[in-house]
Amino acid sequence: MKFFADTADINEIRELAETGLLDGVTTNPSLIHKAGRDFVETVREIAAVVPGPVSAEVVALDQAEMMREAEVLRKIADNVAIKVPLTPDGLKVCRALTSDGTMVNVTLCFSAAQALLAAKAGATFISPFVGRHDDVGFAGMELIADIRLIYDNYDFATQILVASVRHPMHVVEAAKLGADVMTAPAKVITQLFKHPLTDLGIAGFLKDWQATGQTIA
Ligand code: E4P
Repeated sequence: MKFFADTADINEIRELAETGLLDGVTTNPSLIHKAGRDFVETVREIAAVVPGPVSAEVVALDQAEMMREAEVLRKIADNVAIKVPLTPDGLKVCRALTSDGTMVNVTLCFSAAQALLAAKAGATFISPFVGRHDDVGFAGMELIADIRLIYDNYDFATQILVASVRHPMHVVEAAKLGADVMTAPAKVITQLFKHPLTDLGIAGFLKDWQATGQTIA
């Protein structure tokens, strides 16, 4: 399973990249707003730090303007994936860009039917938002299971990118279901390392080691 960081904060991204576990980054207009810096410059900087796909989202809603924005964004770096909304115009843009060799991340997916359309439009990634699904009383993970089944039935190459991840169990469940990628805030990725028994175990081993009076030389 690939791990993407869902953030536009370059410091967080640098720190996560140092772990060697980061495969890509996703941004969205809200994350760009939160980072408070120029959009194009931010994406350029992120794409230089992380060699994997870096999603940058168009904000226009009509096909022509989305294509214009995508042209600007895809020129930033070869590893920029253009993020388009799951709308008829978004999927037209998806088809045009992927036919041209550009990675496309189709975002704001909330149903298996939408995911099927994105795969048919040649999307590189489909982003089902599990956390937002859970928020309104649906089981976000059921959507991942449905999409996995459908994509496997037809051998679609579109990668399932589990988005709107809120906690470590979302990551574990997504991995159990065979999702290709998950994108999560830095906080959640950091939480994946944590277990109280690991901390206790380290403390116990250190205490006993110190009692031996030895050093490793
Ligand atoms: C995905 O690409 C989105 O940027 C993101 O996962 C949305 O998450 P949120 O629901 O926490 O805003």
